[in-house]
Amino acid sequence: MDHILVLAILASLFSWLVYSLFVRPRSSPLRGLPGPDPTMKFLGFGGHLNSHLNVMTSKRTHEENVRKYGKSYRIKGIGNWEDRLITTDPVAMAHVLNRTLDYEKPWQSRRVITRLIGEGMLAAEGQVHKRMRRVGTPAFSIQNMRALIPVVFSKAHELKDKWTEIIKNEQSAASEKGSVVPAGSVLDVCKWISRATFDVIGLAGFDYNFSAIQNESNELFLAYKEMFEVAVSQAVGFKELVIIYFPWIERIFPDYKTRTIKKSQEIIYRVGRELVQDKKKRIMEGERTGKDLLSLLLKSNMSKDIDPAQRISDDDILNNINTFFFAGSDTSSLALTWAILILAEHPHIQKRLRAELLTIANPTDADGGDLSTSTSLHELYATIDELPYLNNVVRETLRVVPPVHSSLRMATKDDEIPTAEAVRMRDGSLRWGIRIQKGELVHIPVESMNVDTGVWGKNACEFVPERWDNLPEAVLEQPGLYANLLTFSAGPRSCIGMRFSIIEMKTFLYVLLTSFTFTREPTVRICPANVVLTRPFVVGKYKEGSQCPLIVTPYVPGSDDATVE
Ligand code: HEM
Ligand SMILES: *[C@@H]1O[C@H](CO)[C@@H](O)[C@H](O)[C@H]1NC(C)=O
Ligand SMILES: *[C@@H]1O[C@H](CO)[C@@H](O)[C@H](O)[C@H]1NC(C)=O
Ligand SMILES: *[C@@H]1O[C@H](CO)[C@@H](O)[C@H](O)[C@H]1NC(C)=O
Ligand SMILES: *[C@@H]1O[C@H](CO)[C@@H](O)[C@H](O)[C@H]1NC(C)=O
Repeated sequence: MDHILVLAILASLFSWLVYSLFVRPRSSPLRGLPGPDPTMKFLGFGGHLNSHLNVMTSKRTHEENVRKYGKSYRIKGIGNWEDRLITTDPVAMAHVLNRTLDYEKPWQSRRVITRLIGEGMLAAEGQVHKRMRRVGTPAFSIQNMRALIPVVFSKAHELKDKWTEIIKNEQSAASEKGSVVPAGSVLDVCKWISRATFDVIGLAGFDYNFSAIQNESNELFLAYKEMFEVAVSQAVGFKELVIIYFPWIERIFPDYKTRTIKKSQEIIYRVGRELVQDKKKRIMEGERTGKDLLSLLLKSNMSKDIDPAQRISDDDILNNINTFFFAGSDTSSLALTWAILILAEHPHIQKRLRAELLTIANPTDADGGDLSTSTSLHELYATIDELPYLNNVVRETLRVVPPVHSSLRMATKDDEIPTAEAVRMRDGSLRWGIRIQKGELVHIPVESMNVDTGVWGKNACEFVPERWDNLPEAVLEQPGLYANLLTFSAGPRSCIGMRFSIIEMKTFLYVLLTSFTFTREPTVRICPANVVLTRPFVVGKYKEGSQCPLIVTPYVPGSDDATVE
């Protein structure tokens, strides 16, 4: 199989090179913009993607480039032949993200997503996307998101109980052996939170309890987990690139990855179709169904407000539920993991936040009320939602470590992108607006926009929750669905699950921080790496996969000074 692959690669590379090197780029208007020289002249390879996508270098690289070339510049993409636009000009970014027909997601990335989870909201374009978003939007309304609050609390408490149990077991094991009884345990916060957020999306999406916090034995849970793991836990290699262009190669020569994805998909579609049929039957029979996304999508599709042409099929529904799992589980768990890691690294911020959270009576306290009534949970959440310091910590976490580091758009027609400030061209002249031609790519610099020192100030890269009490004027000009950040993107294709994630983050932080303290292991260094999403890795143990081990100690009221300092 390998020499067939090599032949296919060579043949494709040749035609691609001829076209790309000699036919297309000669006319590219992006060439008028300044930008770094190709890193390698040979055969046209040597783009700048790595330094812009690697979380360890991207902030510095971008900042240096802005100093040299201004806010708008061009880089070389996969190779020398491909010019890409990078701009942190707020007017230009808003223009690109707002015009979803003129700037689509590139077909290559859509093909990768579709191959995995089907064509749902994340991968679709044009009318198909519009239809899905139309049916999906009511399911994510403020009211429906509020209905999920009890589910989120229940899973946060289940996780808290699980951790408490693990720590107790370790303590009694140590005491039986006669060794020193540890105050807390080292837990991989990333893994545990990911199991909890998967549980939340299972209940929220399907009204289906994976019970992944208890154990990882549910068939549907394992199918999703394995599929996402093989698909996104490793960076896209050369072979994946070839398969994007020549999907038949994969059908003729399936490898381990292909087989795992196929096996998982069989389970997901078998179980998923049963769940859809069952739910439909119950809705038809007039039974009261829950507020899970599946029920809401089905009801939304049946609603009289929806134009017949806007209705979607069973498989569309399933592809969208898959999409919510894919887009909503790892992103949320990573956002929470980063928040907790940052709090472990900044004990004084953790202490201050815990003090704020503890000002709220916890209804699990003996006399604090009844956790089982959802009214009291809604009241509790409403109070949590208004806590100013928690709000600052959540926004600051999402600003400094956006789980989606960057995205990409492709111009579907020639266009002139307006700018807030004049663009310095390669020949030194100044020009308003950026010309781009059909087929060219625009990098969406989520992280760079969020930490732009020209906007956020000199300390833009630092974690300073207080900055939100006194924002610079310029921040208000930044596009963004949430808090003038690009973390959830902006415009008609921004994140549909933003409110969901905020509820999840605030609730989990409330439950976990009032129950535990988090500290770093002194000898372990944890760094971010961009593997589809920005994930934590232990330095020197990249092979072990993403992890975030922290010392988790039960919080004893009044002991904060002793445990955190
Ligand atoms: C902290 C958590 C999350 C972050 C940082 C996040 C971020 C994003 C971003 C940046 C996009 C735009 C992608 C692009 O343009 O390439 C997006 C789209 C999307 N997200 Fe999220 N997301 C989060 C949670 C969720 C949740 C919980 C759900 C669902 C339950 C969800 C569902 C979606 C969907 C369906 C889209 C595609 C929307 C469209 O294209 O119309 N996300 N998200
Ligand atoms: C985005 O488009 C809508 C509708 O076309 C328009 O009302 C809005 O002002 C635009 N926003 C930006 C930031 O361009
Ligand atoms: C899910 O299952 C677990 C264990 O099987 C149970 O403890 C939990 O209460 C269930 N959660 C919901 C919301 O049904
Ligand atoms: C996993 O947990 C569930 C619910 O607590 C239980 O019913 C099941 O037997 C457990 N499975 C294994 C393999 O431990
Ligand atoms: C959506 O509604 C149409 C028309 O009523 C129907 O044919 C279709 O099966 C529905 N889709 C789902 C998933 O129920």
